Amino acid sequence: FTVAILAGGLTHERDVSVRSGRRVAGVLRDEGCEVHVLDVDSRLLPHLTEMQPDVVWPLVHGSTGEDGSLQNLLDLTGLPYVGSTAGASRLASDKPVAKALATRAGLATPEHAALPQSVFREVGARAVLEAVEKRLGLPLVVKPAGGGSALGVTLVESAAELPDAMVHCFAYGEVALLERYVSGTEVAVSVIDVEGSARALPAVEIETDGAYDFDARYNPGRSQFFTPARLDEARLAAAHSLAVAAHEALGLRHLSRTDAIVDAAGTAWLIDVNVAPGMTETSLFPQAAIADQRDLNEIYLDLVRTAAQ
Ligand code: DAL
Repeated sequence: FTVAILAGGLTHERDVSVRSGRRVAGVLRDEGCEVHVLDVDSRLLPHLTEMQPDVVWPLVHGSTGEDGSLQNLLDLTGLPYVGSTAGASRLASDKPVAKALATRAGLATPEHAALPQSVFREVGARAVLEAVEKRLGLPLVVKPAGGGSALGVTLVESAAELPDAMVHCFAYGEVALLERYVSGTEVAVSVIDVEGSARALPAVEIETDGAYDFDARYNPGRSQFFTPARLDEARLAAAHSLAVAAHEALGLRHLSRTDAIVDAAGTAWLIDVNVAPGMTETSLFPQAAIADQRDLNEIYLDLVRTAAQ
């Protein structure tokens, strides 16, 4: 196959995307593919039109990489691409929308409130605090409604921390998601959907000495990962079925990764669904793929083959 990997782009996760692109390119070259890694800039469409690859693999993370904008452009070329359609990407990457759809599908996701920056400015931190304390309680997690890699995310444990958390969040996006904090085992469940049905790869458990923040995600050694997660069979099954159900409820295609918390009672809570999961050396999807009965190389080839059909 001739594969055009799209990496970089103008999002806060540009560097992560470049690393994901390099790593996937290496694997596909080992499998005999002809791989071109292209940045996402004004020359993208002429490049792709001229190159006519068998498949495009968009690996741009965050905002315009995952919200359907890039996929809309790819639709203009008529070229097949790995991953979800523009419409499904738009829904899944908007966390409040994804959580609403998950709830409608009967999945557990922590209670939340979405708050645009303009409303926060108008009503002020005190009014927001009163409302969220009543509705969500503390601690709570403040995060941008879009984007990933934990950028702009703060765990707010006391009322005094909320204003700073909001300002930090609005540096990354116009809308904040305030979410009830759920304590438990943090897992990431990747899904592949290549043979007409979606299946979960082994859940990866994440253990960090603090928050699983940007630094803990991309600096080897800052986090410990356990694959499969150290959960009993019922809890593992709950995490796996949550991820598959979320993939299906959001109408996703080929691959996704659901981040979840499994609490002490065994409930798997959906936190976030990623349409272009990270593929770097420390990322979660590749770790799950390596631990799967098919291995990483086969899974990446399966994705290319399926997208090319
Ligand atoms: N947003 C990053 C790339 C991830 O979830 O892996």
